[in-house]
Amino acid sequence: MAAPAFVVRRGQASDLLACTAIWQSTDGVSSPAPANPYFLFAHELETGTLVVAEGADGLIGFGASLPRLDRWFLADLFIDPHGQSTGVGRSLLESLVDIDRPGPSRATLASGDPRAVSLYTRFGMTPRCPVFYLTTRSADRFPVPGRTGVAVTEVDGEQFARLVSALGHRIDPVDVAYLAAHLDVTWLRIGNRSGEAVAAAAVRWGHPFVLSDPDAVTIAPLVLTQGASAADVAAGLLAWIEDQGRRPAGAGVRLFVPGPHPLLPVLLDAGFAIVDVDTLCASDAAHTGPVAPDPTRTCPATDIP
Ligand SMILES: CC(C)(COP(=O)(O)OP(=O)(O)OC[C@H]1O[C@@H](n2cnc3c(N)ncnc32)[C@H](O)[C@@H]1OP(=O)(O)O)[C@@H](O)C(=O)NCCC(=O)NCCS
Repeated sequence: MAAPAFVVRRGQASDLLACTAIWQSTDGVSSPAPANPYFLFAHELETGTLVVAEGADGLIGFGASLPRLDRWFLADLFIDPHGQSTGVGRSLLESLVDIDRPGPSRATLASGDPRAVSLYTRFGMTPRCPVFYLTTRSADRFPVPGRTGVAVTEVDGEQFARLVSALGHRIDPVDVAYLAAHLDVTWLRIGNRSGEAVAAAAVRWGHPFVLSDPDAVTIAPLVLTQGASAADVAAGLLAWIEDQGRRPAGAGVRLFVPGPHPLLPVLLDAGFAIVDVDTLCASDAAHTGPVAPDPTRTCPATDIP
């Protein structure tokens, strides 16, 4: 097949509905044409870099990055199924790198598509570890045999960002503001019996663009201190979510858990299922920062660094 003629250019607001349709088309599940653009792509346009590949009949792909100080997060790279494997993804990635000139700390979450890992590895982001998408629809098997002594308290977005940073992860205020503007988010501090913070978590109540389960409660990011009891934090957090009574019947609870994270065996034991797996790719083993500075302590978000 001849490579399609295309040009790569910076995206604009009027491209975002087409980007949303392309993003949905790569999911392998047929979904209705989107009525509205995904607000994440507007955030990428406003606070990062979004480039599109345009062919004779319209857009065929797009890519986006979120540079945050010294950290560079490749946020999206999606090509229409009809235009894949013809060099479009590579061209978009080259364009993002050319525009952003990222420093040494660059990272992304690669899908299971071998072309993604293949490109990212050769753009300096080495595969480091799997990140499992976990979900459950079962409330009765949560590990909540009783209260565990952790205290879960609500904080505001600013306090959350400070807490996360004290725990060794970083979340930029523009990304906190983005989540708060578009999603129903509760920011949580989890303390131990002595009152010390042992974890921080952002709980998102539903998401219109999680097409498989828009009512699902997503916990992302979730950061633990070194040595915190993953079982206690999971039990406390899941009990807190159930206590809110806000999870519709049948809606799942979702987390993105790196392979080496101590929550993985805890949540699998509790009945969570693995529904997908990404690969955390990062420029340096010591620079996985844009996704998870320490994959034994951070369960990342997949949309923001
Ligand atoms: C992954 C994706 C973005 C890549 O874009 P693309 O336009 O199809 O890819 P390109 O043709 O530019 O490049 C693919 C590269 O992978 C290589 N490749 C293909 N199959 C491969 C395999 N099985 N093993 C290793 N390398 C492989 C190709 O040789 C090519 O490398 P080259 O440029 O050095 O020749 C695109 O296929 C896509 O949208 N996939 C579905 C959605 C998705 O998973 N996106 C990634 C989100 S992280």
